Amino acid sequence: MKLKQLFIATGITILSVSACKPASKTEDYNWIKTGIDRAHHQLMLTAQEIDGTGKLPRSIWAGYDVNMLEQQLERPVITDSLRALPAADKIGTRRLCDIYDWTSGFFPGSLWYVYEMTGDEKVKDEAIKYTEILNPIREYTGTHDLGFMINCSYGNALRLSPADTIPAVIVQTAGNLCSRFDERVGCIRSWDFGYWNYPVIIDNMMNLDLLFSASKLSGDPYYREIAIKHADKTMPNHFREDYTCWHVISYNNDGTVEMKETYQGKAHDSSWARGQAWAVYGYTAAYRETQDKKYLDFAQNIADMIMTRVKTEDAVPYWDYDAPVVENTPRDASAAAVTACGLLEMSTLVEEGGKYFDYAEKILKSLSSDAYLAAADQSQGYVLMHSTGSLAHGSEVDVPLNYADYYYLEGLQRYMNIKGIEYKDL
Ligand code: GLY
Repeated sequence: MKLKQLFIATGITILSVSACKPASKTEDYNWIKTGIDRAHHQLMLTAQEIDGTGKLPRSIWAGYDVNMLEQQLERPVITDSLRALPAADKIGTRRLCDIYDWTSGFFPGSLWYVYEMTGDEKVKDEAIKYTEILNPIREYTGTHDLGFMINCSYGNALRLSPADTIPAVIVQTAGNLCSRFDERVGCIRSWDFGYWNYPVIIDNMMNLDLLFSASKLSGDPYYREIAIKHADKTMPNHFREDYTCWHVISYNNDGTVEMKETYQGKAHDSSWARGQAWAVYGYTAAYRETQDKKYLDFAQNIADMIMTRVKTEDAVPYWDYDAPVVENTPRDASAAAVTACGLLEMSTLVEEGGKYFDYAEKILKSLSSDAYLAAADQSQGYVLMHSTGSLAHGSEVDVPLNYADYYYLEGLQRYMNIKGIEYKDL
């Protein structure tokens, strides 16, 4: 099923109504309404409770059990490397972040999606407020995550409430992201910390949409050319023969590979769940923006790998595909939500898209169930429970995460667009 796509300046795609998956009057979409209404309630509660702090919600402070981490990692945990356990009275409270955190764009982005789905002007007011506090990011060059930060916030703002001032923010930030590109290496540098010579993480594929947007907005192909070079270099170096990927590839200055490692996964050669999700989403988006079929074929191979490797009944993966499965092996709802978004877009681009649509639907239904959807007024105002930030660092294990919420809502929006469903008809 090939669908006509509506491309927008920000790179956040609106998928048009599907020809092959029309909404049926007999289908029960109550799970979608429950998810949107719960998100509306939780996010508005959060917006009010953090008002005036100048900060954004990221997750919930959680402790960790070193024995459990060691069992999951199948190696001794180097406790020095663990982030300090939060004080006992902090555990269970909302973890806020400042605007320079890599996740700062997700809360405003989630508000934008809830506004888009419900049309509630009060949500729009909050979305504008929490987007505007990110304005200083346009001057920032200290991370590759500028795409997450600005595309999810300002990108959605431009799409849903265009203002003359927004394109300049996107183009300036894209320029700063490009300043992290080294022609000899052929990639954008991800991190400025660590022992690696030139670390590039698979997550960086998600930041390329900002560059495609900047070229469309400015008419300058430069940003887009950098994005393509990055995607092209990542494809042969970040992936194994079975289409799983390493988390971190570090390059030498001449562009040869220095190391292939993990930072957040179980082991260097394991398949960290969110990394696989970033990969399928990222290469599907690269195809959307370039129409270069090699990206779509590649993304499809990654999708097929994911659907084979994830063995859980509800399609929400464990935090690493190679993690030992015991009773308390943590899930990663954020990886599931990102995967659902990628597969929904793919379902509109390939002939045999139905299987990707069905798998994404299964994920979204799981995430909308009581097993993952936070109860009203609970979970510190987040929408989804049971994500894993970085188990390898004892950080954010089995907690809500703002990016799980964002991609869950993006997934619901993509699903509704494909099905031709509107919130008012639910
Ligand atoms: N981009 C960081 C993460 O996925 O945890």
